Amino acid sequence: MDLNKTLEKITVKILAEAERLGEKIPYVPAADGMYTDSQSIYWWTNGFWAGLLWQLYSVTENELFKRLAQSSEERLDAALDGFENVDHDAGFLWLHTAGANYRLTGNKRSERRLLHAATLLAGRYNPELRIIRAWNEQWMKGYDTAGGAIIDTMMNLPLLYTATDITSDPRFGNIAVRHADTMLEYMLRPDGSVNHQIVFDINTGELIANPGGQGYESGSSWSRGQAWAIYGYAISYRYTGEIRYLDAAKRVAAYFMANTSLTEYVPLADFRAPDEPVYYDTTAGAIAACGLLEISEHVNDFEKRLYKKSAELLINAIDEKWCDYNPSNDGIVDGGSASYHNNMHHEKIIYGDYFFTEAVLRLMGKGFYIW
Ligand code: GLY
Repeated sequence: MDLNKTLEKITVKILAEAERLGEKIPYVPAADGMYTDSQSIYWWTNGFWAGLLWQLYSVTENELFKRLAQSSEERLDAALDGFENVDHDAGFLWLHTAGANYRLTGNKRSERRLLHAATLLAGRYNPELRIIRAWNEQWMKGYDTAGGAIIDTMMNLPLLYTATDITSDPRFGNIAVRHADTMLEYMLRPDGSVNHQIVFDINTGELIANPGGQGYESGSSWSRGQAWAIYGYAISYRYTGEIRYLDAAKRVAAYFMANTSLTEYVPLADFRAPDEPVYYDTTAGAIAACGLLEISEHVNDFEKRLYKKSAELLINAIDEKWCDYNPSNDGIVDGGSASYHNNMHHEKIIYGDYFFTEAVLRLMGKGFYIW
């Protein structure tokens, strides 16, 4: 794969999309294959379009990318002000909008938005259960979500680490560490796989369930969840220097690569689902590739090879079979599984494009650190 050519194709395509979309915030294309505007300002993927625009702005300085990314950030003020439906994905929403803007331009209003969002995320911490509550809705198979945590939250922790870096107040980072440790204790299995969800009894603190959530069933192995764990733990290592997090990231990475090697490096949506029907999830491959590249930055040169080469295998597999670089269509990376049980398979999803682009830029030594 020629990374320069790939980046050029991505840039041309995203420019065409940006011109078509204006201030809309895309998620998945509609039946006609084209993007529409996000259906809810609170939706967890609403930051990725801005993140993608900021990544491309960092290498092109194209003002349209910057202007539209800033427009997403301003639109998300309705969620900050509205508050009631903000959940643990405050990280995804505001790291990629306000956080990116603050990092690249030093914008003070963006810094305040980031700290506001971090405060909302910190407020979700339950000190008795030592978890950040994931959701507000009752999405956990009849269990009370007040006691529920999910592996995905690992990717929202950088909002807290960043808030500590900005304010020098350790409380934000301390909450992130407590949550990461609870996930280590209850989510990570000895073989390197992870479950999606855990639920504790909010009164006794007892673990009461491990729902399969986005995965096939309890005890299965939802590949995007494995990818969130790889990248999330590697990032926690970056911020804390705690070796248990790097070890966790490596353990899930080894498990993930062993499984994807059976399917030509395109992950199945769940590594432990029935043989039929076959559902892939390219988004898991793109996220894991970014996680592997993160790990490669924290190991010695002999180990680095393994993680970098593995990331290349995942990204090449997506590029070869699943990329649509035609600027007239919306979305680049096809083959994403948005929701296992809602029959949302093999489609383009905005975060597939975001993580694929981040991985391409990282492989080129370009882009900027958004986490
Ligand atoms: N964080 C939700 C998902 O990965 O589907």
